[in-house]
Amino acid sequence: MGILEGKRILVTGVLTDASIAFSVAKLAQEQGATVVLTGFGRLSLVERIAKRLPQTPPVIELDVQNTEHLDTLAARVGEHVDGLDGVVHSIGFAPQTALGGNFLNTTWEDVATALHISTFSYKSLAVACLPLMKEGGSVVGLDFDATKAWPVYDWMGVAKAGLESANRYLARDLGKQGIRVNLVAAGPLRTMAAKSIPGFKEFEEAWPEKAPLGWDLSDTEVAAKACVALMSDWFPATTGEIVHVDGGVHAMGV
Ligand SMILES: NC(=O)c1ccc[n+]([C@@H]2O[C@H](COP(=O)([O-])OP(=O)(O)OC[C@H]3O[C@@H](n4cnc5c(N)ncnc54)[C@H](O)[C@@H]3O)[C@@H](O)[C@H]2O)c1
Repeated sequence: MGILEGKRILVTGVLTDASIAFSVAKLAQEQGATVVLTGFGRLSLVERIAKRLPQTPPVIELDVQNTEHLDTLAARVGEHVDGLDGVVHSIGFAPQTALGGNFLNTTWEDVATALHISTFSYKSLAVACLPLMKEGGSVVGLDFDATKAWPVYDWMGVAKAGLESANRYLARDLGKQGIRVNLVAAGPLRTMAAKSIPGFKEFEEAWPEKAPLGWDLSDTEVAAKACVALMSDWFPATTGEIVHVDGGVHAMGV
C-alpha cells in the first residue's frame, strides 16, 4: 500500500516532464493518490505532458494572477474530487530584468510580478483550496534556500525569502483547521524555470562539488519524494517547516 493511498492531491506547476511538479504528480499516483493538475498558459501542452503520467489526470486552468481563476478554483477542482488532502505549490516566475545580476536596477513593476507569482500566490492558492480541505490536510511549496545572497538569483531570492515567511504565517493561521504547511527547499534542477535564469550555470558547477551527498541536477524525484512524504500521514506534527533537499549544501560553510 502506498503512503498516499486514498488521498486527493492538487498539483500545480506541471509545464514539462522535467518540472518538479511532474515528478510529484507521478510519485503521488504511484503512492496511491488521486491527482488533479492545474496548468498555466499553454493548457494543451500541459494536457499532453499529463498523458505521460501513470494515470492521466484532469487539468484545470490556473493563472495565480487571475482572481476569477482563484475564486472558482475550488468549484472546478470539486468537479473531479470531493475534497483535497494535499495541495502542491510548484510555481515561480520572475521577469528577466529581475534575475542575472541586475539587482540594483530592477523596477518595482518587475519585482511586483515576481512577488505576485512566486510569493503571494502561495497564500492565494492555499486560501482558494480551503473549501475543499474541511478535514484538514497538507500544503507543500517549492523553495530555494533564501537565507543567503546567491549569484544571479536576485529578486527571485527575495521572493523566496517572502515565501519562507509566508510559510510560517500560513502554518500559524491554518493549524487550527488541521492544515499543515511546509516547504521543500530543493537544490538546483534543470527545469524550464531554472533555464530562464541567466547565469544558472554557476549553480550547476558549484552545487555537486559542495554537496556532501553529491547532487544530480536532473533528478527531480528527490524533491518529489519529500513533497509526497510531507503530504502523507508520516509528518502529523510538522508545520511551518522547511525541509532541505539539496545534498546538504545548506549546512556547509566555505
Ligand atoms: N529548478 C530549480 O532549480 C528549483 C530549485 C528550487 C526550487 N524550485 C522551485 O520549484 C518550483 C517549480 O519550478 P520548476 O523548477 O519545476 O520549473 P518549471 O518551469 O517546470 O515550473 C514552474 C511553473 O510555474 C508556472 N507558472 C508561472 N507563472 C504562473 C502563473 N502566473 N500562474 C500559475 N502558474 C505559473 C509555470 O507554468 C510552470 O509550470 C518553483 O517555485 C521554483 O522556484 C526550483
